[in-house]
This record gives sequence, structure tokens and C-alpha cells, in this order.
Amino acid sequence: MNTSETVLVIGGGIIGLTIAVELKLRGASVTVLSRNFQEAAAHAAGGMLAPQAEQLPPSPLLDLGLMSRALYPGWTGKLEALTGLSAQYWPCGILAPVFEAGLETCVSSASPDAQWLDRDAIRTYQSGLGSDVAGGWWYPRDAQVDNRRLMQVLWSAAQELGVELYEGVEVDRLVTQADRMTELQTSQGSWRASHYVLATGAWSQALLPVPVFPKKGQMFAVRVPESEPELPLVRVLFGPGIYIIPRQDRRIVVGATSEIVGFTPHNTPAGLQTLLAGAMRIYPALSEFPIQECWWGFRPTTPDEAPILGTSPYGNLTLAIGHYRNGVLLAPATAQLIADWIWDQREAPLLPYFHYTRFTS
Ligand code: GLY
Repeated sequence: MNTSETVLVIGGGIIGLTIAVELKLRGASVTVLSRNFQEAAAHAAGGMLAPQAEQLPPSPLLDLGLMSRALYPGWTGKLEALTGLSAQYWPCGILAPVFEAGLETCVSSASPDAQWLDRDAIRTYQSGLGSDVAGGWWYPRDAQVDNRRLMQVLWSAAQELGVELYEGVEVDRLVTQADRMTELQTSQGSWRASHYVLATGAWSQALLPVPVFPKKGQMFAVRVPESEPELPLVRVLFGPGIYIIPRQDRRIVVGATSEIVGFTPHNTPAGLQTLLAGAMRIYPALSEFPIQECWWGFRPTTPDEAPILGTSPYGNLTLAIGHYRNGVLLAPATAQLIADWIWDQREAPLLPYFHYTRFTS
């Protein structure tokens, strides 16, 4: 691709913005169309960078996750230098507590990347754990970022670099002719570009017949009272079906349900009850902290829970959708692979594993 050609990114979530910034940094002329910046899944996420705690099986997805986790410090540092804003990347490690009933499934395969801690040892890493916690795994290389701040940083970086950003644009239809995309029809008229990137997350199926569907996650946050001089929780806790993420600004984020209910909005009593009980079982001190906020979001899910990346049936349309639970984690690696492909016509060795045809052949 050369500098006279233009790229139109459809979707202003974390994947769309990260790709736009990466392409712009490489010299492309980039426009991003966003329907509603606030509804992007990354706003609703927890920001864990947890390829290991998420227990991704050995696979190209794990490789992509490890690659992306390794990119994070340099990538967020670069964004910070560009914008003067911090995304609060925090290499705090993740503890994965296990209850008595789960102990028998724990294999003793300790390595520098995953260390088994018994009942006493886990409490030296984090005090105040619930009495049911019988041990757990320590993943020292897993980390976190404040996903909401990251979204602001990305938006600012895109503005700073001269990416054209349009908010409030509803895409109605991708117009195609033979094996090319010819234009995009939207609530604000038609748009044309040399190349298009589809990064529309859980909403992608409305535009293209791809197997991406929403999985709702409910979350809530508490705040550590000012009466506590130190942050009482300094590790992410990732227990069975629940995670608790302390932020450096005293907020503690708790998530998340995983519900197949289409795009049904709102928090529900059942969803919140599950989260509250799970969180208090692992970290009882949290039961006294004031609740700040409850919210929900929609993860873009594929049948194998890995993203769809790379070419599409249309030569000038690239896909970057379906990141499921791992959009925040996978954003920098996704952008690198996609920019390599679009800008340099270079296919990274990992890219073919994520091709859409794995669901069609
Ligand atoms: N990344 C965790 C979640 O989607 O709940």
C-alpha cells in the first residue's frame, strides 16, 4: 500500500482504534467510523492481560496472547509519550485462587511462568483471602491495564496523529461488487476508501455473515475507603468464574458474568448476586467497601473463542473481529498483524490461523 491510498476502519472500539493508530504511525491515511464510542466492549472490560490466568490452551491463540502481553509495556509507553496520558499499565501479576473442591485438578507443573502456592504461601502474596481459598496459581507475568483510560489514550493518540475520527456514524451496509468492496453506506452518507477494515466487534454479523455473536458480561466496582491508608489488594485475583481487579486509584473492578442473551441490556439481580457472592468468598474485606457502579457489555464471541483476522471474501476488506474475552489483551498484537498485512503485504506466521475460512471449510 502507498501513501496515496486510504484506509477506512469501521468500528471505534479498542481493535479499530489500535489498528488505526498503528497504520497511521506507519504512514497510512486513516479514517475511523464509530457508532457509539461508549458501547465498545473494551469500556466494559476488566483490562486483565491474562493469557495464562485465562488458561488459554497451547494454541496460536495463546501465542498471540503472549506476544501481545509482551508488547504492552512498550506500546502503552509509546502512547503515553504521544499523548501525555497514562493507561495505567500495571505488571502486578495475577493470583488464581483455588477452593478445596478444585485442588485435585491442580497439577504440580510449577515453572517461572506459573507457580503453585499452597494455603499459607498464597496468603504471603495477598492477605485477606477467604477461608475457603485452599491454594492457587501465581502468574507473575500476567498484568493489567485500566481499559477505560486506555480507550481515552487511544482516542487522543489517534487525534494527535491525525487519524480522522467520526463518532455517531451508523453503518447500514457494505456495498460490494464481485470480489471488491466499493463503498460503505451509513447514516451519514456513503464513504469510499482504497481499503476497509471491519472492526465492529459483537455487532459484526449485521454487516457480514460471520459467526460472531454477543456474550454479555455484567460487572461492578467498589472503592477502597479513604480510611484504609494503603491499598489492601495489590494483585488481580482470578478465581473460578470471578475476577477482582484492584486499580491504583482505589477502585476495585469485579467481573464478570458470561450470558448468552443476545443484546439484552442492563444489570440483573441474578447477575449481580453471582458476582457479589463470588467476590466476597475470595476476598471477604470487599463486602464492606462502597459500591461505585454496575455495568455490562457484550463480548464478540466466535465458535472457537479466537478472533477472525485477515482477508475476507473481498480483496480490499480486512477482518479484525471476534476477540471474545481477550480484546484488551490482543489489541496491540492484532494491530501489528493487521498493519503488516495491509501496509506491507506481509503475512505474519500467526495470521493464517485466524482466517475466517476455518469456519467455512
Ligand atoms: N476478559 C475477561 C472478561 O471478558 O470477562
